[in-house]
Amino acid sequence: MKKPGIFITGTDTDVGKTVIAAGLALVLRAQGIRVGVMKPIATGCLNFGNRLVSMDVAFLMEAAENEWTGFSSPSRYKHPVAPKVAAELEKKEVDLDQIRKAYAELENKYDFLIVEGIGGLMVPINPKYYVTDLIREMKLPVLVVSKPGIGTINHTLLTIDAARIRGLDVKGIVFNRVPRANLSIAEMTNPKVISELSKVPILGSLPDIEDLDVERGKFGSLREMFQERIRIDSLLQDLQVK
Ligand SMILES: Nc1ncnc2c1ncn2[C@@H]1O[C@H](COP(=O)(O)OP(=O)(O)OP(=O)(O)O)[C@@H](O)[C@H]1O
Ligand SMILES: [Mg+2]
Repeated sequence: MKKPGIFITGTDTDVGKTVIAAGLALVLRAQGIRVGVMKPIATGCLNFGNRLVSMDVAFLMEAAENEWTGFSSPSRYKHPVAPKVAAELEKKEVDLDQIRKAYAELENKYDFLIVEGIGGLMVPINPKYYVTDLIREMKLPVLVVSKPGIGTINHTLLTIDAARIRGLDVKGIVFNRVPRANLSIAEMTNPKVISELSKVPILGSLPDIEDLDVERGKFGSLREMFQERIRIDSLLQDLQVK
């Protein structure tokens, strides 16, 4: 059965997709919603014993309190590069069918799905298939994680355009790592400019959170900060999450 969910993409790699996806999972869990998390393809995985592990997925699974199954991380590569490139280097094509099956398993098991993207929207998975194609197959709406500073108008509008041209529905933008004080003129004015030009709502922004570290599995005050600063009520209503 089709379950509601959201695909978390970003204007770039390293903008905070995992942090925002985990923040959302923590808040939904606190509301008693059974959340399943997924990173369909993870590159830059670490070797533990003879198993490749994605620290992003470990972080997301802990936030959502998911039990360990392979479904949240069906495709893993060692090299920290785009999936198409990692697949070529490691001589292992991305198995899209395995990803489809894993996604269906998560839909059976959970009531809401949070899927983290790989880099940004135009990241190639194979020569003919991009992250946008995966989102279309999953039939998920999109949340964009952006940087607050100079350059972000261009990156965010490009991301929203790329999504819309391919028939994707962008539900909101979240700015990550916004300074708590002494904002530059760009940081102060960018959210309003972007929402006016794109007509996509800004759901909020997160500051730098002390003791938050994806790689070390530390949440710090992520749940409290997310709860306080990111408005998800209308998003959840829109997605028909009770
Ligand atoms: N608000 C924040 N406060 C403190 N540290 C943060 C914050 N947001 C992100 N970070 C740190 O910045 C790094 C990048 O964040 P994150 O892993 O969420 O980015 P990403 O977009 O998921 O990257 P990737 O494209 O590699 O998946 C991580 O080390 C994370 O701990
Ligand atoms: Mg990530």
